[in-house]
Amino acid sequence: MDDIELAESYFIGKKEEIIKTKRITKFVHGRDILVIHHKGTFYAMDLHCYHAGGSLENGDIEEFDNKLCIVCPSHKYKITLGEGEGIYKATNPRDDVPTPRWYSKGIKQRMHAVKEVDGDIFVILSSMPGWIESDYYQTEKYRKERSSCSSHGPSC
Ligand code: FES
Repeated sequence: MDDIELAESYFIGKKEEIIKTKRITKFVHGRDILVIHHKGTFYAMDLHCYHAGGSLENGDIEEFDNKLCIVCPSHKYKITLGEGEGIYKATNPRDDVPTPRWYSKGIKQRMHAVKEVDGDIFVILSSMPGWIESDYYQTEKYRKERSSCSSHGPSC
C-alpha cells in the first residue's frame, strides 16, 4: 500500500483479533462499517442492510447461486459479499415450466476494500459513484429518525 492509499484508509483492528472474533463494527469517517473474516478473507460493508436498516452484524454467511452471501437477520435478504448485490430466488410464471431461479436486483449494499499492513487491518471506503441503497442508512436523516425512534420505545 503506498502513502496516498494509507492516508485514505482507516485502521479497523489487529488482524489476529478480528480473525478470533470473526466480526467487528466501527464508525469510520461518518459510516457504520462491518468487517467480517470468513474462511481466510476479509470483507467490509455498510453495517445497515439496504432493505430497512437492520444490522448485518450477526448475519449468517451462506452460498447461494455459487455466490457467498450475508443473510440479513431481519428479513433474510441475501447480499453477495463480492459486490453487495441483492439476490433472490423466484419463479417466473411466464416460463413454460416455472422453475425457481436466482435473480439479481443489482448492487444494493455498499462494499468497501480491506487492506492488511503488517498485521493491521484497514478499510478503504468505497468511492463507487452514485447512490447505493445502503447509503440511506448512513445519513444524518436516518440517524435522527433512529434516535428519535429509540426514545419512543420498542413499539416505534
Ligand atoms: S432489514 Fe435486512 S432484510 Fe430487511
